[in-house]
Amino acid sequence: MTLSWELREIGLDDMRVVFELRNDPYIVERSSSRKPIGWAEHDAWFSKSVEREDQLAFLIDSLEEKKSVGVIRFERVSEADAVISVYMIERFTRRGIGVEVIRSGCERAFSRWKISRVLANVRKDNVAGQKGFRKAGFHLLDDPVDSGHDDLHQVFFLGRYLERGAL
Ligand SMILES: CC(C)(COP(=O)(O)OP(=O)(O)OC[C@H]1O[C@@H](n2cnc3c(N)ncnc32)[C@H](O)[C@@H]1OP(=O)(O)O)[C@@H](O)C(=O)NCCC(=O)NCCS
Repeated sequence: MTLSWELREIGLDDMRVVFELRNDPYIVERSSSRKPIGWAEHDAWFSKSVEREDQLAFLIDSLEEKKSVGVIRFERVSEADAVISVYMIERFTRRGIGVEVIRSGCERAFSRWKISRVLANVRKDNVAGQKGFRKAGFHLLDDPVDSGHDDLHQVFFLGRYLERGAL
């Protein structure tokens, strides 16, 4: 089966679909908190973050199924860095789509902002996340100072100049 997809920038009307995707059990299990999010918390976060200049967020839309199957989001955390988060429903994983989505999303983040790196905080037990980011050209950051990580996570990075030739 062909699986074509496109990235569509998230707008205010997408609050419910993002909520449903974020609370999909497969995605919750791989999230940092491992907990579902309540509607009130989501509403407060979504309403204030969706149009912020320091955020770039897309729905991953399946063209065949005409529905959203995931989210890719970038948050600019400093002059030089943005942090990526990406998730898709299980049925769309393990087909290489996530890697293409990560590459395409990073291209957009680098062209939107003059950042030098995209950082990814990945749980150490999330093998698919680690493999996916490596396949998309990310490397493990040896000294993840100030990148908001903890002992449960590893930080990967993609550099604007170092890696773009490989994209
Ligand atoms: C991470 C993610 C975006 C990668 O996208 P993808 O389309 O699955 O990427 P790929 O199909 O190229 O898979 C990447 C690798 O992970 C492996 N993989 C994918 N899902 C897996 C799973 N559930 N368990 C074990 N390995 C898995 C693939 O087999 C592949 O390994 P390979 O390179 O040895 O063949 C996607 O799996 C996803 O959305 N996962 C849920 C959310 C998540 O973990 N996000 C990252 C949090 S930081």
